[in-house]
Amino acid sequence: MSGNNEVQARKAIQNISPYTPGKPIWELQSELGISRIIKLASNENPLGPSPKALEAIMCSLPDIHRYPDSSTTSLRQAIAEKLNMKPQQMIISNGGDELITLVSEAFLEPGDEIIVPAPSFSEYEFGALLMGANVVNVPLGESYAFDIDAIVNAVTDRTKLLCICSPNNPTGTYLSQSVLHHLLDVLPKHILVLFDAAYSQYATAADYTNGLEFVRAGYPIVVLQTFSKIYGLAGLRVGYGAAPESIIQQILKVKEPFNVNALAQAAASAALHDTEHLHLSLQVNSEGKKQLYRSFRELQLPFVESMSNFVLVNLGTHAKFIYEQLLSKGIIVRFGGIWNLPGHIRVSVGKDVENSAFIHELNEILHFLHLRM
Ligand SMILES: Cc1ncc(COP(=O)(O)O)c(C=O)c1O
Repeated sequence: MSGNNEVQARKAIQNISPYTPGKPIWELQSELGISRIIKLASNENPLGPSPKALEAIMCSLPDIHRYPDSSTTSLRQAIAEKLNMKPQQMIISNGGDELITLVSEAFLEPGDEIIVPAPSFSEYEFGALLMGANVVNVPLGESYAFDIDAIVNAVTDRTKLLCICSPNNPTGTYLSQSVLHHLLDVLPKHILVLFDAAYSQYATAADYTNGLEFVRAGYPIVVLQTFSKIYGLAGLRVGYGAAPESIIQQILKVKEPFNVNALAQAAASAALHDTEHLHLSLQVNSEGKKQLYRSFRELQLPFVESMSNFVLVNLGTHAKFIYEQLLSKGIIVRFGGIWNLPGHIRVSVGKDVENSAFIHELNEILHFLHLRM
C-alpha cells in the first residue's frame, strides 16, 4: 500500500525545500552519454585530495570495524595546536553543513530571528527553518560589500544568530578585520555570530580575518571551517567549529555520538599537515583566477573580484541559456537563479585545462548569441 496515511510532518519543515547541490559528474555523464565532464560548480579542490590524507586513509582501513573516536580527540588536538587554541574550543562536525545545523539546534527557539547578509550560503536558512526560526535577509550593498549599518539596524530583541560568510559564497567578497571587530563590539551580547570561514585559506587580502582571533578574545562567535575546500576532502564530510568553550559545550549536547567517521578523522589530521598540497592548491587557484579574470575582461563580462576559489560573473539576460548550453557541452557551473541572481553564473576555479575548456565553450556560446541578435 502506498500514499495511504495521514502522517503529518512538523509545521516548521513545510517551508523547507531540499538543498540543490551542484550537478554531479555521473549524472551529466549518463544524461549526455559523454565521458568528458568538467565540474566547476561546487568549489572543490581541482587537484584532488592531499596525498598524505590518502595514505592516512589506507592505514586506517583495517580498523573500520571499530566505531570512530566520538570525541575526535586527536583531530581536535592537532587543530588546536595548529591554531594556538585549546581542544575544548573545537567541535568536529560532519562537514561544515552539520555544524550549521548543530548551532541552529543548540541556540534557536521557534520565533527567534537570524540575520543573513544576502545572497549567501543557503544552509543558514535551512537551520533556521528547521527550528521554526525566522530569516531576516539583509541585502549586501554596492559591489556586494557587507552593509554593516543595515545589519545592525536589522537587530531586534528576537535576533539570536548573525551569519557572516567571509569570503562570501557566491560573491567572493569579504568582511575586513576592523569591520568585524567593530560589529562584534556593537552587537548586543545575546547574539551569536556564526562566522563561516569555509574559504578562508584562499583569502589573500591583508585586512582579511578568519575570525579566530575573536574566538581567542572570548567574543560570542563560532568560526566554521571545513576540510571540503582547499584540503580536498569534500567526499569524506569533515569540518569544524571553533568557539569559546562555553558555546562549544552547548553545541556538543546536540551532536550525535559518532558524527565523524574514522577515515575522515584520520584524513583530516594528515591533510592539516600537508603544507605542500596546500601551497600548490593556492598557487593553482591564484593562477586560475587570473586566467578567468583575463578572459572575462576580454569578453567584456562584468565579474566580482573574489577572495575565494570561485568567481561570480554577470552574463546578462541570456545567463540561463548560457548555463544550459555549457551543461550540454559537459561543463557544469552554478546558475545564479538559486541566489536570486538570474543574470549570473558562479564558476569554481579549476585547473588550467578546465578553465580553458570553460572559456572556450563560453566564447562559442556568446559568439552564437551575437550572430543571432
Ligand atoms: C560558505 C560555505 N560554508 C559551508 C559549506 C559546507 O561545506 P561542507 O559541509 O562540505 O564542509 C560550504 C560548502 O559549499 C560553503 O560554501
